[in-house]
Amino acid sequence: MKRHPDKHNHTTVHDATWAVHGGNTIDKGTGALRTPLIMANSYALPEDPSAIDWSGVDAGLFYGRNGAANQTALETKLAALEGGEAAVTFATGVAALHGIFFSLLKSGDHVVVSDVTYEAVWRLFAELLPEKYGIEATFVDIADVDAVRAAVRPTTKLIHAETIANPTTKVANVAALSSIAREAGALLSIDATFTPAPFYRPIGDGADLVVHSLTKYINGHGDAMGGAVIGRKEIIQHIRHDAIVDAGGVISPFNAWMIMRGSITLPLRLKQHFSSAEKVASVLESDERIAFVTYPGLASHPQHELAAKQFEGRGYGAVLAFAVDGDSATQNRFVSKLRVITSAVSLGHDESLIVHVGPGGRGGGENYPAAFQKYGHLRLSIGLEDPEDLIDDILSALDATFEQ
Ligand SMILES: Cc1ncc(COP(=O)(O)O)c(C=O)c1O
Repeated sequence: MKRHPDKHNHTTVHDATWAVHGGNTIDKGTGALRTPLIMANSYALPEDPSAIDWSGVDAGLFYGRNGAANQTALETKLAALEGGEAAVTFATGVAALHGIFFSLLKSGDHVVVSDVTYEAVWRLFAELLPEKYGIEATFVDIADVDAVRAAVRPTTKLIHAETIANPTTKVANVAALSSIAREAGALLSIDATFTPAPFYRPIGDGADLVVHSLTKYINGHGDAMGGAVIGRKEIIQHIRHDAIVDAGGVISPFNAWMIMRGSITLPLRLKQHFSSAEKVASVLESDERIAFVTYPGLASHPQHELAAKQFEGRGYGAVLAFAVDGDSATQNRFVSKLRVITSAVSLGHDESLIVHVGPGGRGGGENYPAAFQKYGHLRLSIGLEDPEDLIDDILSALDATFEQ
């Protein structure tokens, strides 16, 4: 018999169908086809509320910090999309990362963390969590599987890495990290902000937790902030209990609604982002005015083969790091000449964004490759503009930079 797809059941439909319908319900009151934006922080209690689990981890809707209609809809959508049992949303990606660490680690625990991570994670493990809570961390080259295994201690409770690291684009071997975590009795958390599902699902390669900055590709339009953690129900409930119910970093209904809407086009957008990024990267690599470019889609990238295998040929992300041949002032001059690409932080937006952080950044820069140390770097997030316009913008800005 022919398969009968049901748009409310992810296991019966393709990802693009789920991206449109997942988590959405017809509003009972009005018949509206979309889950409405519900700006209420409190919900009517049943006649006898004594059965409510006031800890709020599995309680239905009664108070916005424990669970609200728009965040619940988004969590339903994301959990299935990432192949997890449950999801918990947060106000930002950093709140989601902190939510994992705060909930699952305690004094004396040890973490193995990638030596290249988003800057807030760097500071959390280099300063805040050790100093305030006595949590120990070892930063390690996550691409060196033997080094990761050697860094594990009896007290290791967590291994944390990014699928593609911000900003150097180092690629983590999720399956290898997961087997090290299992041997150690530790959990593996993977920040997959650069590679959301359906492009790649770390849970399929053994990650226990996937974390996203929803601010980036999943929202995709540069107009809302959010974060999410996806994984097994028991761990997600633990994180919700500690980091949301009792620490409070809840996402607003409005941002959850915006991200739900933005995510409808996620599968389509990712294809465009990734194919344009490959074109831009190869143009940059072939231009002698470019000092270096690092992008997992280039054969010159140290983990190119791993990326091709892990991402099964679907693409290599859409963030590149490169530098123009010159000093810090030259990088700034190049950026100032761009007319399509916008100079701003963030990534995964509809528009292409470039940032010249300057030497050092906020920490961890000493672990970046030698070329980053020599030239600094520009982080370029490829948007949804026509790739020809992006390439012409870059080439014209290079001409203008060097003709002076
Ligand atoms: C890989 C990664 N994780 C987490 C974050 C933090 O996300 P947010 O700005 O939503 O807190 C970022 C932000 O750039 C990021 O690049």
